[in-house]
Amino acid sequence: MTRPRVFVTRVIPEEGLDRILSLSEAEVWQGRTPPPYEVLAQKAAGVEGLVTLLTDRIDSDLMEAAGHSLRVISQMAVGFDNIDLSAATERGIPVGHTPGVLTETVADFTFALMMAAARRIVEGERYVREGKWVTWDPTLFMGQEVAGATLGLVGLGRIGQGVAQRASVFGMHVLYADPAADEVRAGQLGAERRELDELLAESDFVSLHVPLTDETSHLIGKRELGLMKSSATLINTARGPVIDPKALYEALKDGEIAYAALDVTDPEPIPMDDPLLTLNNCLIVPHIASSSRATRNRMAVMTAENLEAGLKGERLPHCANPEVYG
Ligand code: DGY
Repeated sequence: MTRPRVFVTRVIPEEGLDRILSLSEAEVWQGRTPPPYEVLAQKAAGVEGLVTLLTDRIDSDLMEAAGHSLRVISQMAVGFDNIDLSAATERGIPVGHTPGVLTETVADFTFALMMAAARRIVEGERYVREGKWVTWDPTLFMGQEVAGATLGLVGLGRIGQGVAQRASVFGMHVLYADPAADEVRAGQLGAERRELDELLAESDFVSLHVPLTDETSHLIGKRELGLMKSSATLINTARGPVIDPKALYEALKDGEIAYAALDVTDPEPIPMDDPLLTLNNCLIVPHIASSSRATRNRMAVMTAENLEAGLKGERLPHCANPEVYG
């Protein structure tokens, strides 16, 4: 029996990749960077399954290039803003993703970013390596207290809730802005609802946990940054374009807010001449919030499970467009 043809746009952890290779005739892109769009379109032609990452643009033209054989797109990420979901649904193609498995991992990392920003850990580490540590200094790197501070969560989905849980253990006062939030769950977490503007004005730390959509693109721009406290820290583990990067640069440079800690940027990777990289009060890491070994392995396995179900014509265990099933 011939096995289904699949294109995998990058080498993913072997727990998932081995499974994909065992169930399909898979070609795996070996490049360290994603296949260029035109190359991806060629590779996709005639495949039955596509395994994608958030770095691949999967639009209607790409699906057209793949042709009628394409039966499933399986993305190794919880987010899928790189995929034209309605185009996939129109074509009857289910799109798999990896929700849930990375919730605690990203919530942990959000906290790590918040603590690193509050307590100036990266600046301190750099100072030591630069040979500047000459004595214990009573005023050296005085940071911000986390216990007792107010944390504003923009988005109280799975990851936002994970951050709220951690924050309450740290003695923080938690606010959230999310019209779709489960208010009972929010109450259990001790989180108080606010409108976005109120949350921005009241919080010492603001952390973003919304998917990237037309509504959330540049949700945090000049006006919103202007509402924040001058002592506040902004944390982004969601998607880069949720913040207007030019407005963020101005706000950090002019002291409108104190600090930003970013796992995601716009664009990614951040160009080396981006002005944000000239600022000491901006901590940037390369989109690694979900990158614990266990979580990335599990994401790869879920990706294989979604692919397998799609190739067999079964319902995907984790489908981003369930409406495809009617
Ligand atoms: C996701 O899964 O969407 C994350 O951003 C990648 O870890």
